Amino acid sequence: MTQKISALNKKESSWSGRFNEPVAELVKKYTASVGFDYRLATHDIQGSIAHAQMLGAQKIISLDDVKSIELGLAEILQEIEAGQFEWLLDLEDVHLNIEKRLTDKIGDAGKRLHTGRSRNDQVTTDVRLWLRATTDYVVSGLCNLQASLLDLAEAHFDTVMPGFTHLQVAQPVTFGHHLMAYVEMLKRDVERFQDCKKRMNKLPLGAAALAGTSYPIDRELVAKKLGFDGVCENSLDAVSDRDFAIEFTFAASLVMTHLSRLSEELILWSSPRFAFIDIADRFCTGSSIMPQKKNPDVPELVRGKTGRVYGHLTALLTLMKGQPLAYNKDNQEDKEPLFDTADTLLVTLEIYADMLRLPVVENGLVVKAGFTVNKEAMRQAASEGFATATDLADYLVKKGMPFRDAHEAVALAVRHAVDKKVDLSDLPLATLQQFASEITQDVYAVLTLEGSLNSRNHIGGTAPAQVKAAIARARATKM
Ligand code: ARG
Repeated sequence: MTQKISALNKKESSWSGRFNEPVAELVKKYTASVGFDYRLATHDIQGSIAHAQMLGAQKIISLDDVKSIELGLAEILQEIEAGQFEWLLDLEDVHLNIEKRLTDKIGDAGKRLHTGRSRNDQVTTDVRLWLRATTDYVVSGLCNLQASLLDLAEAHFDTVMPGFTHLQVAQPVTFGHHLMAYVEMLKRDVERFQDCKKRMNKLPLGAAALAGTSYPIDRELVAKKLGFDGVCENSLDAVSDRDFAIEFTFAASLVMTHLSRLSEELILWSSPRFAFIDIADRFCTGSSIMPQKKNPDVPELVRGKTGRVYGHLTALLTLMKGQPLAYNKDNQEDKEPLFDTADTLLVTLEIYADMLRLPVVENGLVVKAGFTVNKEAMRQAASEGFATATDLADYLVKKGMPFRDAHEAVALAVRHAVDKKVDLSDLPLATLQQFASEITQDVYAVLTLEGSLNSRNHIGGTAPAQVKAAIARARATKM
């Protein structure tokens, strides 16, 4: 929803009775949060309705008042959704803006809504409700990205590529196996968000300003109405801690960490030096000076935006650090980092789910793949880097040689092949036998890429059969 925030006007604030002079205009601007916390509006209204209904059920306010409040808030929600609500900076934040509008509409009943409540327990309730819904969006975004990766892994369950350690060719792996590594990371990310939601999903309302309230409230009833799993059990903690927001931002930071690793690989692989993949033009830009350039902007930005999300995590941790109990205005600074973390993460997940998917048919039109895979270049790179040297050592071990001796013999053979500028499999049998007399004609099966892949045939291994099994397990358990 796009919202217009009006400049200062001369409305009195709800707490001005105690003050001898008006708050300075610059201070009003400095302290107002409506410019960003308007995003909590629907959850603020949801929380207020549950609170009012509880006040009615407990006979703290009349049922007529509850009806008026419900109708008034429903109208306000419509105004907000239609972009017709006038947000006033003078009214500080989302809570006071809505309450003032309600009172203008329904009179005294509106003024009774805040009975037994404070903005301190109200704001953290709103943030928890907002974050709970956002967490569900994030989880579904993660699942969509996993779905793209799974389809891609399935299509490439036996596509050979070099596996790297230290960014040097190490051993052959399948592209499917490589992609499934990210499916695993994202699976843990999903679990982290689901776990963080358990602690987030507790009701602060009832804590009031800090110490609770003298009205005979029913907190369990409010919790039930709002779908919370229970209530925060200490009022001072309820209004003050933002650990749930920090946890969310940490979980988001880890997703971004994972995606930045993938980004780095996509950037490398799409460089003509690797040429493993070609990212579709719709995800790239050109250079204004170098006509030949096609830049992988999306993965580069994902890598860059990871820093932005880490920054928000640091901001939130620092915000909380050293705050005495209970509520302090510092906490108003929780919203912008949290909102931007969620916005950044959600759009990143969406764009990557699109970029990493196989071609799909949408509205009768084939939407092209986000990138194409150059199997030949991957295979070529795997065959060039002595990727099967470990297989040769293992072969010698199976013929009875101790592993350390086998390692040494193969290292010498590799050195020889490097000098001759050929691969191990190009060396004649007689030459190979100079390094280890145990070597016989059957060695050439071991030195093939497929032989190497298929030999790693256990759970977690790169054998194509295992990749298929991993995909099937992920499909069966996921989401
Ligand atoms: N806008 C405030 C925030 O985000 C709401 C709570 C204000 N409470 C107070 N006592 N001033 O934290």
